[in-house]
Amino acid sequence: MERSYCGFIDIESVDETLNIKGWVNTRRDHGGVIFIDLRDHTGLVQVVFNPEEKEIFEAAQAIRSEYVLEICGLVKKRLDGTYNPEMSTGKIEIIAKKLTILNISKTTPFKVNDESTNEDLRLQYRYVDLRSNYMQANLRFRSKLFSVIRNHLGDLEFNEIETPILTKPTPEGARDYIVPSRVHKGSFFALPQSPQLFKQMLMISGLDKYYQIAKCFRDEDLRADRQPEFTQLDIECSFYDEEDIMCLSESLMQKIFSELIDKDIILNFPKITFKESIEKYGCDKPDLRNPLHLVDISAHLVNTEFKVFKDCINNPDKRIVALNIPGGSKLTRKNIDDYTDTVKTFGAKGLAYFKIEDLSDTDKGISSPIKKFLSSDEINKIIKSVKPSNGDLIFFSADTADVVNNSMSTLISKIGADLDLIKSGFKFAWIVDYPMFEYEKGTKNLTSLHHPFTSPVSNSQDFNDKTLSRAYDLTLNGNEIGGGSVRIHEKSEQLKVFQALKLTDSEIDSKFGFFLKSLEYGCPPHAGIAFGLDRIVMLLRNLNSIRDTIAFPKTQSSSCLLTEAPTEIDLEQLKELAIKTNKPKT
Ligand code: AMO
Ligand code: AMP
Repeated sequence: MERSYCGFIDIESVDETLNIKGWVNTRRDHGGVIFIDLRDHTGLVQVVFNPEEKEIFEAAQAIRSEYVLEICGLVKKRLDGTYNPEMSTGKIEIIAKKLTILNISKTTPFKVNDESTNEDLRLQYRYVDLRSNYMQANLRFRSKLFSVIRNHLGDLEFNEIETPILTKPTPEGARDYIVPSRVHKGSFFALPQSPQLFKQMLMISGLDKYYQIAKCFRDEDLRADRQPEFTQLDIECSFYDEEDIMCLSESLMQKIFSELIDKDIILNFPKITFKESIEKYGCDKPDLRNPLHLVDISAHLVNTEFKVFKDCINNPDKRIVALNIPGGSKLTRKNIDDYTDTVKTFGAKGLAYFKIEDLSDTDKGISSPIKKFLSSDEINKIIKSVKPSNGDLIFFSADTADVVNNSMSTLISKIGADLDLIKSGFKFAWIVDYPMFEYEKGTKNLTSLHHPFTSPVSNSQDFNDKTLSRAYDLTLNGNEIGGGSVRIHEKSEQLKVFQALKLTDSEIDSKFGFFLKSLEYGCPPHAGIAFGLDRIVMLLRNLNSIRDTIAFPKTQSSSCLLTEAPTEIDLEQLKELAIKTNKPKT
């Protein structure tokens, strides 16, 4: 008999005999009648074992939670007054006529669907955790996302091509995961941080529209939106420029949003330059649903006597900003102290403020711990540029640009959430005009802001931290969901970038010789992008962590609680690889 799914059985099936299979969610013994809620991925249905059916009633006594059953039974309408409105199948029940116990189960360490279960335990028994409605919905959504992407790009005649996992380091700014070679003792493969160089070489090969749902590996500090092993939708196209890639990306997002969450999105996402984004939001992934933003006020304070501000004047590495909070006057002393503690975790020394009570009288109508240090001209100029209303509160931050940007961008998100200022919905933005390079902290050494294969805006002789690149990032609701660029396709230009990064000739040759050589054989102009698919699932399903989008994720400390990887390996295996470990004593 064909299998029916538990959650789909309804009143229409009354008096039919059906076959169902699944796990025991609960078993209740009600004075001689046994009730079981059987679960499959579609939901629950109640099964009744009556003592009249002696043989299966006896067998049902042994059933426990998470046993795997096959049941044949007759669908009956429940008696009036015994409907369960919480269940989609709450108007019916199944009177068991045949029972097969397909497998037994030990008592699970937590109840499936118990939301209070601690995450470590969930990860340790992930196969049980994945039975929950929540994880089932997340993983099935992810699967649907992949098929929408494949269908869409297939329709556009993209080629899905796999690139190697055992490869050479591809720099994307993280540390590499390394795999020792047994055949070539003392030599190592690196797992790809991205398929960057391979996809560029596919362009040289004439496979003009490439995509791959690619696993990437990065040994970096983990956060809620980062995993050491994650999945990108990786795209590259020959003869495309930034506009072409943006257009393709927006149409893909439109398809994903309409097919997966039935939402129309408005195309022509706003473009914000990196410089403007940093000035206004303190970061390059602004949440455009949040109305809060920074205003630079240094220009109004050039002659200030207030030491905290004075220290930041005429210093290009420092900035002074104001952040107006609509209705912020209602913040208590305690709220302000808490926000001050937040910014201090980023190295800020304080968080000055103006409480705006009455703008018609800037003397008495503003209360502030720093007002006494400022002239009335300075106060008026600040008010004029920040434009608060009565009842608002302005926070001030003065420090190195890094401290101000990191602390105030966090404050913007925190206050936006605390005061419920963030609108619902989805807001995309392209961040453009990135610098090619930044200086490594405290040095005059340039490092790439994206990767070193990104094309500079112009073929300049002298690269510096002002040189702009043809890179773009796509942000959604304050998250970076994708990034890419127009690439360098000329060997001489690529060489210049490596040299600007202070790579020696022999480093260039050993790391990228193969790639430079490929650029000599007719490389077309090309551009591409990669999207973080785990992050996209997280945002579309409104989850707090990308771990909940991945079947078997790693913990914050990059280990797998289920398999206990990474593990030590046998001495024999180490010998074969000619490796000696020098493990620090614990
Ligand atoms: P990038 O390094 O910006 O670009 O990565 C692309 C996107 O991948 C996601 N992402 C991550 N997701 C989860 N965990 C991580 N550790 C992680 N790191 C990155 C982000 C990010 O926007 N080769 C280039 C792309 C290109 O130039 O075409 C690259 O990898 O959403
Ligand atoms: P102080 O003179 O250190 O007591 O600081 C006076 C006020 O300025 C307090 O409200 C501090 O929180 C604030 N403050 C101190 N340093 C800074 C800074 N670097 N940026 C913004 N506000 C500051």
